[in-house]
This record gives sequence, C-alpha cells and structure tokens, in this order.
Amino acid sequence: MDAVAPIPQSAGQATLGEVIVEARRLLERAGIETAEQEAFWIVEHVLHLPLHNVVIDRDRLLSSSELLAARGLIERRVGREPLQYILGTQEFCGLEFDVNPAVLIPRPETELLVEYVAQRISVDRQATIVDVCTGSGCIAVAIARMRPHARVIATDLSSPSLDIARQNASRHAVGERIIWLEGDLLEPLAEQELDGQVDVIVSNPPYILESDWATLQAEVRLFEPRGALVAGPEGTELHERLLQEATRYLSPGGALIMEIGAGQARAMRRIVDQIPGYRFHRLVYDEAGLERVVIVERVGI
Ligand SMILES: C[S@@+](CC[C@H](N)C(=O)[O-])C[C@H]1O[C@@H](n2cnc3c(N)ncnc32)[C@H](O)[C@@H]1O
Repeated sequence: MDAVAPIPQSAGQATLGEVIVEARRLLERAGIETAEQEAFWIVEHVLHLPLHNVVIDRDRLLSSSELLAARGLIERRVGREPLQYILGTQEFCGLEFDVNPAVLIPRPETELLVEYVAQRISVDRQATIVDVCTGSGCIAVAIARMRPHARVIATDLSSPSLDIARQNASRHAVGERIIWLEGDLLEPLAEQELDGQVDVIVSNPPYILESDWATLQAEVRLFEPRGALVAGPEGTELHERLLQEATRYLSPGGALIMEIGAGQARAMRRIVDQIPGYRFHRLVYDEAGLERVVIVERVGI
C-alpha cells in the first residue's frame, strides 16, 4: 500500500463535493474498503445533514471550521480509528447507542443474544434478567425496552463502561429500570438476595485468545479496549467462571445464554459437562454460519 499523503490542514476553501472526493481518496489509500460510504457518513456527521442533502448540495461551500472539522475526522479514520468512535454511535437492535473507546462497539451478531432472551421471556412476564459484561449496555437496554415488566440487572468490571451504559439507558428511557453493578462477573450479585431467582443470565464476555490478539485488524487492536476482548490463553476462561458462578443464582429451568467465538463450541460443551447443575440446551449459529451462542439450562435444584 502507498504511504498516505497527509491531509492539508490549511483552511482554504472547498465545496461539499470536493471534500467528499478528497475524503474518499484518502480513505481508499488507507485501505478502507467502504471508503465512499464512510466519506459520506463523516461529512454528513460534521454538517448534520441527511444523505440526500450531501448528494444534492455538492456545490455548497464549507465554512473554514466545517472544513477543519471534516478533515480532522477523516484523518482519524485514515489512522484506522473505527468510524463508530469517530461518530460516537452504533446501531444495535434498532436503537442508537453512544460509544467511545471505553466500550466495545456492539456487533450485529450479538443481537442473537437479545433474540434468544426474548424467546424465553414473554412480554408480560415479571422476570429477572442479568446481563453480565454489559459494556455499552446494549444488551441490557434492548432487553429492558422489549420486556417492560422485567427487572434487569447489568454488571461490568469497568466503571467508564458503566457510565456509558447508564447514559444509553437514559437515552432510551429505561434508566430507572436497570440496576448497574460494578465488579467481576456475578460477584456484585452476592448482596442482592437473588439466589435461585434469576430467570436468564445473558453475557457477551471477552473470548479472544491471548495468542490471537496480534492478528486482529488494526481498528480493533489499536482502539477497542483489550479488557473487553481478550479472555486468556483458551478464550473460554470467562465462560467457565460464569458457568460456575451462575448455578447459585439461576432458578430451576433458568437459562445462561452466552456468546462464544468461532470454534469454541466443542470446548464449551466439555466445560458444561464438567460443571454439575446444567443441561446443554442449544448451540446457535450466526448469519455467517459460525458458532455464536451457547444456551444452557439450570437443572437439579
Ligand atoms: C465483549 S465486551 C461486551 C460488551 C457488550 N455486552 C456488547 O455485547 O457489546 C465484554 C465486556 O466485559 C467486561 N469485562 C471484562 N472482564 C470482566 C469481568 N471479569 N467481569 C465483568 N465484566 C468484565 C468488559 O469491561 C467489557 O465491557
């Protein structure tokens, strides 16, 4: 790949069309596959414009502050910062979530977790649902919106993540319905008197192998929080601990629904078989045909 030419920082003058062309060229040279689309999104964001205005208004002159702002964001993207951190938002389950580098950017495949929680809990049920490793709060907030009578509790080790999660809950009018607890996996539940009473525990824990970290794309490796991604040498360390801790809280027939990485299903089955108190219920594949969600049920109480 060619070295990417620095973005001219002089204010100068440029039309919207020229900025789009310049942005697309720089993003393409930086190896960004969706360069044209991202150029539109960045300019729309800076100018607070809907898409068709960007296309129609190509001759509009940008003010020097707009030009500077657009070039600043393009430069960040050329440096491989994820577009979601630059724009500060990511859609998940039809809702927009605030994101910043303190939280993992929600991924579309994680919507499967929400779907399978919703399948088990009817709309009018006063269930208790715990989202472990909540990050941006995307799972907890989506569930709280879909299941208005459920009590939702969300945990995370990271205090900055919980700040963003709270912000997202307020944004979607479920701030009063979710209890946020800081700590390691289910440890913060110890004082909540929930033994045997939780209907569903759902989690997208870190599951990247330490040895895979260096192979991840730059956007992930350089910008997303390592602690949200890497589990340990096996990748299934957090799932195993969660399975062990969850037996105390799940009600009879209650479910633990966890996201896993591609190729981890076999190891997960082995782990489930070794921990008393569970029945392996289901393995779900994502749209790409990869193993993505494991569902186990609490038995033997
Ligand atoms: C893969 S991200 C998932 C975030 C969000 N639930 C999602 O699906 O987009 C994992 C999250 O787990 C948190 N985390 C990592 N280790 C943890 C632990 N031992 N206990 C609780 N949370 C943990 C990280 O801070 C991060 O927010």
